[in-house]
Amino acid sequence: MTLRKFDLTGKAALITGAAGLLGVEHAAALLECGACVVLTDVNEPALADAHSTLAASHAAGKILTQLMDVTSAESIHAVADVLAAERIQIDILVNNAAIDPKVNGDQGVVETSRLETFDLEQWNLQVAVGLTGAFLCSQVFGAQMAQRTDGGVIINIASDLSVISPDQRLYRKDGLPEDMQPVKPVTYSIIKAGLVGLTRYLATYWADRGVRCNALSPGGVYNGQGAAFVQKLTSLIPMGRMAERSEYRSALQFLCSDASAYLNGQNIVMDGGRSVW
Ligand SMILES: NC(=O)c1ccc[n+]([C@@H]2O[C@H](COP(=O)([O-])OP(=O)(O)OC[C@H]3O[C@@H](n4cnc5c(N)ncnc54)[C@H](O)[C@@H]3O)[C@@H](O)[C@H]2O)c1
Repeated sequence: MTLRKFDLTGKAALITGAAGLLGVEHAAALLECGACVVLTDVNEPALADAHSTLAASHAAGKILTQLMDVTSAESIHAVADVLAAERIQIDILVNNAAIDPKVNGDQGVVETSRLETFDLEQWNLQVAVGLTGAFLCSQVFGAQMAQRTDGGVIINIASDLSVISPDQRLYRKDGLPEDMQPVKPVTYSIIKAGLVGLTRYLATYWADRGVRCNALSPGGVYNGQGAAFVQKLTSLIPMGRMAERSEYRSALQFLCSDASAYLNGQNIVMDGGRSVW
């Protein structure tokens, strides 16, 4: 049967930033296909919440949680050691962690992140989580996959903004002077474009060891943002709506399984058509 290619029974997947909005969805997607998941995050209470949410509809024995800071090689190695001691080998790595400014209500992005005054510490922190973290996790878990005979899969979660520039008109707030208008920060664009470069690099680096790497680039997920923002954003999307949080599950199932066995080094942009308009 064709769907057998999506079967991940016996596989273990490690997800970074797993306690966030999409991290839980990625975990649910892989659990649905029979994988075990290792949820990792720096936010301990959110990690516990993610575990209970997932355990309500999936076998709790297939869900592990580990505190892990993707910016710290020490922290990643410590988790790798715990997994090795429990004889768990990671077959699938989902590099999902990020520090993203959220759009709340009609207030625009929480932080004002204009290029002219963008804080170097914020640059370094956001790059450390979103880009360096993906490198460090791939270095540890990808190298382990490459040492085995059955290879593995690395997925980098990028964004539609890996292929297009942010439309800063989306974030404007009435009544503010130009130099106070909030914007999508420059870090977002460079991290997401960087992840696509990392994806291509990793796709060839261990290809002969059976390790594939692809990027998944979601468009904006509806999460209670204000009506004015949603109206502006959806007018840029041919399908006329934002994504539901669960709509990326099937793409991840495809990318992590043998259903995509010959797909390598690609950036799958799933954005309702925004980037082609
Ligand atoms: N939500 C969207 O609309 C959307 C759209 C396109 C792309 N994306 C991308 O999808 C991914 C997930 O987005 P989300 O909306 O779930 O974000 P989120 O902010 O809800 O979750 C991100 C998670 O990363 C964790 N994190 C932060 N620093 C960390 C660190 N040092 N080590 C480990 N974990 C850390 C946070 O604790 C959080 O749980 C991100 O890469 C994001 O850029 C999201």
